[in-house]
Amino acid sequence: MAQFQAVKGAKDIFPDEIARWHYIEGTIRSVTELYGFSEVRTPVFEYTELFQRGIGSTTDIVGKEMFSFLPDPNGRSITLRPEMTAGVMRAFLQKNPGGGVPVHKLYYIADLFRKERPQAGRQRQFTQFGAELLGVSSPAAVVEVISLMMQVFDTLGLSGLRLRVNSLGDPDDRARYRDLLRSYLEPWRDALDEASRDRFDKNPLRILDSKNPAVQEIVAGAPKLLDCIKPEGREEFDRVLGYLADRGIAYEVDHLLVRGLDYYGHTAFEVVSSELGAQDAIGGGGRYDALSKELGGSVEVPAVGFAVGMERLIIAMEKQGLFATLNPHGPQVFVVLQDSNLEEQALRIADLLRRSGVSTETDLAGRSMKAQMREANRLGAGFALFVGQEEVASGSYTLRNLRTSGQVSIALDAIAGVLHESAKQ
Ligand code: HAM
Repeated sequence: MAQFQAVKGAKDIFPDEIARWHYIEGTIRSVTELYGFSEVRTPVFEYTELFQRGIGSTTDIVGKEMFSFLPDPNGRSITLRPEMTAGVMRAFLQKNPGGGVPVHKLYYIADLFRKERPQAGRQRQFTQFGAELLGVSSPAAVVEVISLMMQVFDTLGLSGLRLRVNSLGDPDDRARYRDLLRSYLEPWRDALDEASRDRFDKNPLRILDSKNPAVQEIVAGAPKLLDCIKPEGREEFDRVLGYLADRGIAYEVDHLLVRGLDYYGHTAFEVVSSELGAQDAIGGGGRYDALSKELGGSVEVPAVGFAVGMERLIIAMEKQGLFATLNPHGPQVFVVLQDSNLEEQALRIADLLRRSGVSTETDLAGRSMKAQMREANRLGAGFALFVGQEEVASGSYTLRNLRTSGQVSIALDAIAGVLHESAKQ
């Protein structure tokens, strides 16, 4: 029988890589907390209609990319979440049915599932870090979430990012623009590729962000959505831009930015990285005031948020050498048995050290002393503690610093203090 492999588009993460995840997750948690966001966790699956209504049935995600299944023949279809925003809003509405609650600031680091063709930076199971600000979506709130996202990138040291922003206006503005765009594209209809022809009737705005150069050439001359937006919407967008400038956050207004999820209105944004090749979007978001009602909420909950792809973040950071100083820590002490009859003592010593807060490894396989030393070095242990008959009898053990080769004779209960001191130096 052929050996099992992971499902295509899903990845294993082993300890050599996990240090990167922990480092990034730690940074995310500390920066989001500076902004007053708290973590939310929602179920991995939701009823399929939640995404159909929330993300929109004509989007690629809902049309082609969802992993959906029937839990029982007469049951309701369930879908592995392809994104978090709809689920977070569902959870919020469920907990606060009448609305009228104060602002909620929520963040998540969550696994998601999309049936896309796997390639570099595009997986079928992937992880997003994101934040959702519920209850307010003023220009200040929009800039608050963009600042948070950019501060995470800055804290991680990531450079070469471009923030693209656009306004998608309100539903009326978009309806007018859709007509205008269709009239503009009508003469070019045959020159469009199949995907864009398909979008012409259903979701023409998505033609604007086509990656096909021939289509890009056609849409370059298209009328601009921003020109269809009513003065109040324009004014608000200008305030967002003004606040960004004031915060020193560089941006580009990109008339072709439309985003691939239908719940957005007014300000939408995306961050792209030059390190990422074809899948260059590292994160994106925007305002989504209409989502709460779309999900059956009794009141409109103004909202704005973003999400960043963790795998893409890691690829970009790796290309910039930002993990170079991240050495995974080996154990502080490796207990080396000079005599395999002392296994029980060694386990007791390891236990005592661990209970006093010292990370400790010992030989579990009855290996020779030479093999144990090799293992201690392979693990990157800081110290070796030698355990022989004599040491056990006298209570005095040799502790060798594996970096400097200096060694001391020491009683077991003094080890934690010595290691603590040496860690401070
Ligand atoms: P999105 O643009 O679909 O937005 O996804 C955000 C980020 O997730 C992308 O920029 C990308 O980095 C990452 N991503 C998406 N699909 C994949 C994939 N198949 N493999 C690896 N990474 C991927 C949303 O999901 C919205 N919920 C964002 C949001 C939050 N808007 C408001 N609040």
